[in-house]
Amino acid sequence: MVTIGIVGAGLRGRLFAEALQGQPDVEVVGFAEPSPKVADDARDATGLPVTASHTELLEAHNPDAVIVATPDFAHREIAVDVADAGKHLLIEKPVATTLDDAEAIAAAVHRANVRCLVGFENRWNPHVVQAKAAMATLGEPITASATLSNSYFVPTTMLSWAAKSSPAWFLMPHTVDLILWLTGTKPVSVSAVGSRGVLAKRGIDTWDVVHALITLDDGSTASLSSAWTLPDAGDGIVDFRFQVVGTEGSVTADLSHQGLTVVSDKLRSAWPVGGRIGRSQVGPAVWMVQDFAAGLVDGGDLGPDIDHGVLVTRTICAIEDAITTGRAVSC
Ligand SMILES: NC(=O)c1ccc[n+]([C@@H]2O[C@H](COP(=O)([O-])OP(=O)(O)OC[C@H]3O[C@@H](n4cnc5c(N)ncnc54)[C@H](O)[C@@H]3O)[C@@H](O)[C@H]2O)c1
Repeated sequence: MVTIGIVGAGLRGRLFAEALQGQPDVEVVGFAEPSPKVADDARDATGLPVTASHTELLEAHNPDAVIVATPDFAHREIAVDVADAGKHLLIEKPVATTLDDAEAIAAAVHRANVRCLVGFENRWNPHVVQAKAAMATLGEPITASATLSNSYFVPTTMLSWAAKSSPAWFLMPHTVDLILWLTGTKPVSVSAVGSRGVLAKRGIDTWDVVHALITLDDGSTASLSSAWTLPDAGDGIVDFRFQVVGTEGSVTADLSHQGLTVVSDKLRSAWPVGGRIGRSQVGPAVWMVQDFAAGLVDGGDLGPDIDHGVLVTRTICAIEDAITTGRAVSC
């Protein structure tokens, strides 16, 4: 039996709690959540106890592992304290939004010798898993591209902390991880451009759009684009596409609709690989957290680790530097 506490009872924390309900040999012991309203909602919906801080959660429940599902910029203190307490970790992506924070978390994880999964959920996305299997047939990678963007809904309504994140921090960790995993490469240097002003006029002073060109250590290249400015009048809040071209073939995916488009007054689009089917929650994030718990129980591989998470944060830092300096930046 493993016991798991969840820090942050927002969108992801609640999804993870639901996904772990009924999992064999797993017990979610409670949430830590500083917002009284979010805490009350979580208590009412799940029946789980909620403490106001991660330190109280550790003291009250002494869990074997902790999931860090707080905003992008608020992972460091929690993750370091959790690792120092000898607890295993699932940390949402990005590990952190500064290299200093990410390296401090990695140092704590290594010092305490705890297990740590970073929440790159596409490793559990069926389309991505099939693309990874197909890579063996494509020859040597030549170039890759990925677009992951959101409509205005995400920065203006879904996230209360969008001004302290960006399309680069919220979205690109997924596509950086995706391209590195599919191609089996490491980033060498990046060039990037970005624009801002449109979201700023809506009170959210962050990048509207970020484009990055990455040189990889096998000499191949990748281009990544993320925007937070897609129209809400479109048929979904996520646009997600990627392609890898190799010497003997290519793999191309469009996950924006997953084959189902819904446009109505109440709902725009639906993701078939998500939500509830029969008795089970389904979807990449659900399978990721269930696999995390199963890996803690059986001692097997957990997936992308803290050092990979630091590499992804280093790459996004390089992308930010490249935008502001206008120069290519080493990763
Ligand atoms: N929403 C998504 O689609 C999505 C997808 C993948 C990954 N993520 C990542 O998951 C993380 C959480 O995102 P979210 O969408 O759930 O955000 P959210 O705003 O819905 O929830 C975060 C919660 O953490 C709480 N919090 C803040 N500081 C805290 C602290 N010190 N201790 C405990 N709780 C604290 C907030 O009050 C909030 O309720 C982020 O890093 C995000 O990038 C989100």
